[in-house]
Amino acid sequence: MTAPALVAGSANLPLAERIAAELRAAPVARRIERFPDGELHVELLESVRGRDVYVVQPTPAPPEANFMEALQLVDAARRDGAARVTSVFPYLAYARQDRRAKGRECVAAKLGADLVQASGANRALVLDPHSQALEGFFQIPYDSITAAPLLADAVKALVPRDAVVVAPDLGAVRLAARMAALLRLPAAHVHKTREGPQSVSVQQIAGDVKGRTPILVDDMISTGSTLAAAARALAEAGAAPGAIALATHGIFADPAESNLRAAAFRHVFVTDSIPPVPTGLPVRIAGAAKLLAEAILRLHEERPLGDMALHT
Ligand code: R5P
Repeated sequence: MTAPALVAGSANLPLAERIAAELRAAPVARRIERFPDGELHVELLESVRGRDVYVVQPTPAPPEANFMEALQLVDAARRDGAARVTSVFPYLAYARQDRRAKGRECVAAKLGADLVQASGANRALVLDPHSQALEGFFQIPYDSITAAPLLADAVKALVPRDAVVVAPDLGAVRLAARMAALLRLPAAHVHKTREGPQSVSVQQIAGDVKGRTPILVDDMISTGSTLAAAARALAEAGAAPGAIALATHGIFADPAESNLRAAAFRHVFVTDSIPPVPTGLPVRIAGAAKLLAEAILRLHEERPLGDMALHT
């Protein structure tokens, strides 16, 4: 069997190169440039005809440009005659817009799935997508995998015995339950309501948190308001100080630094699904290359992803 061909987008080149190194294959040579008017132009510089191609491109800021680049690279591989093209998103933006929350809105997650399919991808692979609804938006085979075991390994030496794993909102309950099982800890969750892009309020806490150190788990840290509000509510409910935050995607959009600092997290762990964002926070990075390479290899060899997927 020939090796998988990895095409690296430019959004997180170091990660793509580490995945390629894990696969013991050099990334496919390609050129990504902009025309003078700002239009993106991509070109594969070697043939992928008949190959099983994996286009690796997360979509951090600027999400539109990174997403378009992913689509163009898939299109270029398909037009060159690749046998199969898989769009690999270590982080997939727009997944939070998976329904019309207020009405008269675009369901951007569905539109994004449609565009991935229109680009000619035969399959999609996403690391800790925000929404499980994505699965239903794709007509092509779609797989998601989780970084929970990776984050659990990274944090386990720092977890006090009295800790409790907490989902800071209902969307994170499955991820937190998986983390609690991995760390052999009890789980709790916070019921949050989002009042705006940067403001959330906590309605109630379910589970025993009194005197316990909270390990907060979420798919992403954007402005940090979700984690900060949860940490505040947990402190008010009598949780022990020195909470730890675990999230797959460290977006750290403004004002994440001040939100997280005010919440006095002892440690913050994220993966390198997107390029590390400099903050003055005690952020530790767990590398996701091995995990993504293993998923690519299993898809390439038509093996099940098994417990790489998020099951609880
Ligand atoms: C929302 O439901 C997500 O799972 C995250 O909790 C949220 O997007 C994080 O955003 P922020 O850090 O801005 O609160």
